[in-house]
Amino acid sequence: MRLQNPIIGASGTFGYCVEYKKFIPLESIGGFVTKGLSLEPRKGNPEPRIKETPSGLINSIGLENIGLDAFLRDVLPQLKSTRTKIIVNIFGTSIDEYAELAGRLDRIQRIDGIELNISCPNVKAGGAEFGKDPLVVQAITQKVRNKTGKTLIVKLSPMVTSIIDTAVAAQNGGADAVSIANTYPAIAIDTKNKRPFLGAKTGGLSGPAIKPITLKLVYDTYGSLHIPIIGGGGISTAEDVIEYALAGAAAVQIGTANFINPGITAQLADGLQDYLVRARVRTFASLTGAAKNISRV
Ligand SMILES: Cc1cc2nc3c(=O)[nH]c(=O)nc-3n(C[C@H](O)[C@H](O)[C@H](O)COP(=O)(O)O)c2cc1C
Repeated sequence: MRLQNPIIGASGTFGYCVEYKKFIPLESIGGFVTKGLSLEPRKGNPEPRIKETPSGLINSIGLENIGLDAFLRDVLPQLKSTRTKIIVNIFGTSIDEYAELAGRLDRIQRIDGIELNISCPNVKAGGAEFGKDPLVVQAITQKVRNKTGKTLIVKLSPMVTSIIDTAVAAQNGGADAVSIANTYPAIAIDTKNKRPFLGAKTGGLSGPAIKPITLKLVYDTYGSLHIPIIGGGGISTAEDVIEYALAGAAAVQIGTANFINPGITAQLADGLQDYLVRARVRTFASLTGAAKNISRV
């Protein structure tokens, strides 16, 4: 997949993209990832589902979504003429469900790629459980790979013993890229009623608070794969994008920052352009992994 620039709207923070038409020219970003879609619509977790934290956000949405059929019927036609890459994030409670979702999406021409969410910390079945064991990561990726020729991205959990092991497992299963990483399990306590604040009790931490940690996961993984890494976690400035590139990212995803400034993705694409000109860097790709000072494997 060739992106017009390396900025991608992250799943769950970019709606189904149509919502962002009023904030940015969609062709100004490389692509976007839809909210995680399942075969059937899901209501998600009980409220409250969002808690602000210092430099971050804990969410426990629980993968509320309109379901694949409604997305294809009601949303996708509105995006037909959009000149940016459409990546559909999918979520299932069994390996077969992931495979079925991928098989159905494979037939839809306008969809450019599929991102497997095997790393959501906010659901009881599936989600991060699938993303923890490299053998399961490989098996699920392989099963989905057999169902689709579209660009296949596997979104990894940061909560693993070795991110290299799960990244290599995704690659061995046939992934075209990995996304590093999803949110971190977290909790906030309501001191008045002495209970967890969120309806689901726990959620996933995102935003600037996680940037240095996820950045390290990208840095650690770079050099162990022959497929690209999409980095993302806490990006809110062009400088952050450059940091992720230097650590090893070929492209980046922007999540929580959209909630503060819904125009941020387009502004980051501009900011990046300015940086490259000012720093006399010819291509963004030449930055990828430069901080690690190793040649690509
Ligand atoms: C409210 C919310 C909903 C999210 N929903 C999804 C989702 O459906 N699927 C998924 O793979 N990631 C989901 N994520 C994770 C983001 O795509 C992103 O990986 C994470 O928030 C880290 O990036 P950030 O710090 O820039 O937000 C969600 C994040 C937030 C804040």
